Amino acid sequence: MGAGIAEVLSRGGLAVVGIEINQEALDRGRGNLEGSTGRALKRGRLTEEARREILDRIALSTDFAELAGCDLVIEAVPERLELKRRVFEQLDRVCRPDAVLATNTSSLSVTDIAVTTNRPAKIVGVHFFNPAPVMKLVEVIGTVLTEDGAVARVADLVRGLGKTPVTVGDRAGFVANRLLFGYLNQAAAMLESGHATRDDIDAAMKVGGGLPMGPFTLMDLIGLDTCLEVLEAIYQESRDRRHAPAPVLRELVTAGLLGRKTGRGFYSYDKTAAQAAQ
Ligand code: 3HC
Repeated sequence: MGAGIAEVLSRGGLAVVGIEINQEALDRGRGNLEGSTGRALKRGRLTEEARREILDRIALSTDFAELAGCDLVIEAVPERLELKRRVFEQLDRVCRPDAVLATNTSSLSVTDIAVTTNRPAKIVGVHFFNPAPVMKLVEVIGTVLTEDGAVARVADLVRGLGKTPVTVGDRAGFVANRLLFGYLNQAAAMLESGHATRDDIDAAMKVGGGLPMGPFTLMDLIGLDTCLEVLEAIYQESRDRRHAPAPVLRELVTAGLLGRKTGRGFYSYDKTAAQAAQ
């Protein structure tokens, strides 16, 4: 998601600093950026010059201090509250006091993150969808602590990037995931109960529901670890059993079968597809 978001911002003409935890992750991020823009070049959606400009506007580093001059920071680390809190404490120390700090969380409380900083009025949620360069929706989340105008300014920025912002309250799963994940979880439960096969459930929703992907293909794209984390967060808040994660999802995550990014989830992928999906 980090690489996808960096690409979106750079395509919008903004100078971007991409921070990763170590050199290996940074190299993977660079590979993702090159892969995604390379695909657009091949399809004639970008010229070589435009591609070069997009890549040149993104400076990659492992040093948080590089964020000192940024107006807006978008965090996209894994969906674990303690980890996000640690990152925001660090960002709070390094970034300008007037910088807006945003989380790309899928389902965690933005308020929980905001209160760990000394600038809760400047904390918002900016939730992109996967793959970020393609999906048009961005949910913009304000909390009871967010200052007037911050959500509207971020929504304007999102609009300027060619995306469609919707403004959402700070509730687990916001709007899209709250509705989507009940459906995805039910598909997993259906498979588990022998109601229908994986391929037939996917076909039913793709062909019959007019969706670009069936639920299992989509869960593999999102990442089964993320799916589990999102469901757990929504279930914890809603106690709605439609969001109690289907055991098969937990089983696959425990086994390290996380979907396209690991080469196997509900489906198996060859190495090239797995790398392309990262
Ligand atoms: N990165 C960048 N671009 C990509 C991409 C990627 N990973 N995957 C596909 N694309 C681009 C292609 O280059 C192509 O661009 P073009 O039209 O300009 O040539 C376009 O997307 C269509 O790609 P393809 O023709 O290869 O394949 P499809 O037509 O099957 O589209 C898809 C692929 C866009 C992924 C489509 O299947 C889709 O929209 N799937 C549903 C995705 C979805 O629902 N995402 C939301 C998940 S929920 C979420 O993210 C929330 C989070 O909190 C969990």
